[in-house]
Amino acid sequence: TKTPVRIAITGAAGQIGYALIFRIAAGEMLGKDQPVILQMLELPMEKAQAALKGVMMELDDCAFPTLVGMVGTDDPKVAFKEADYALLVGAKPRGPGMERKDLLMENAKIFIEQGKALNEVASRNVKVLVVGNPANTNAYIAMKSAPSLPKQNFTAMLRLDHNRAISQLATRTGKAVADIEKMIVWGNHSPTMYPDLRFASVAGQPALAAINDDAWYKNDYIPTVGKRGAAIIATRGASSAASAANAAIDHMRDWALGTNGKWVTMGIPSDGSYGIPQDIIYGVPVTCENGEYTRVEGLAIDDYSRSMMDKTLTELQEEQAGVASLLG
Ligand code: NAI
Repeated sequence: TKTPVRIAITGAAGQIGYALIFRIAAGEMLGKDQPVILQMLELPMEKAQAALKGVMMELDDCAFPTLVGMVGTDDPKVAFKEADYALLVGAKPRGPGMERKDLLMENAKIFIEQGKALNEVASRNVKVLVVGNPANTNAYIAMKSAPSLPKQNFTAMLRLDHNRAISQLATRTGKAVADIEKMIVWGNHSPTMYPDLRFASVAGQPALAAINDDAWYKNDYIPTVGKRGAAIIATRGASSAASAANAAIDHMRDWALGTNGKWVTMGIPSDGSYGIPQDIIYGVPVTCENGEYTRVEGLAIDDYSRSMMDKTLTELQEEQAGVASLLG
């Protein structure tokens, strides 16, 4: 039997946490043969800690064979202690009258503290996924606050956008999700993201040829994928939770267990390729093998793509400039 791995989850009593933790404990992220220890972080407030305790009672009641231990805490250094995986879901939501800039600053403080705690106590191989928004910039802040961990350990979640892009394409072409290959979503997890179909195929046929409608692609498909989060809120009356949790599991499972050559989108620190400045956490296509991701290199970038990629980059650079004073 395998040695148990430690999985830290922040915001564990939130709505994504509730859709995520039970699936991880059931073995859906790392496999039914991989024992897991869950290390769950919530805010110190009584209500949050009580809700977390309730989640832990329910975890007990599931009697998952793969769940061999759990900790609930309000201390990041306890939650991240020797963590092999860290899913940073908890973040401050935008309150009434709060500006985007205020949101950025409030979250920066959280991710500086959590980055420092990871730096101090996590496994040196910890795989970090930031889900809490603004996800790319929060991942950047955590990475910058953890100088003794390898930068490539810090990633942001673009997988929900990737999955949305696949699903919308499958619907349009009348083909199955499994028929779609080489999807890419470039950039920020925000409506400026760029779902790029130039390399995608549907049942072996180039996706753009299968669609054969450039106006639909640019004026309908791209904004539909980009604004899907808002559409879920408007329809469901609450933000994406089950689909976000599902994407987090897809991201971590693929990173840990590999993609067999399949392209997936991850937000990763830039190495300077594709004109994205070093260290910006940017959605790019990757393949995963042996616990590591590799950027898909050498894709041609045409003028339209360049302008779309620069637009989402500019937004990320503005976010980065907004928190620069806190990073010193
Ligand atoms: P939620 O508000 O239901 O849950 C968040 C939980 O985090 C709360 O229980 C809260 O007490 C906790 N929390 C807040 N600050 C914390 C801290 N410093 N340490 C530990 N716990 C803390 O929110 P929900 O729906 O679960 O969403 C969580 C985050 O995920 C939000 O920022 C949301 O915008 C983001 N999100 C990101 C997506 C992506 O694709 N990257 C998709 C959907 C949501």
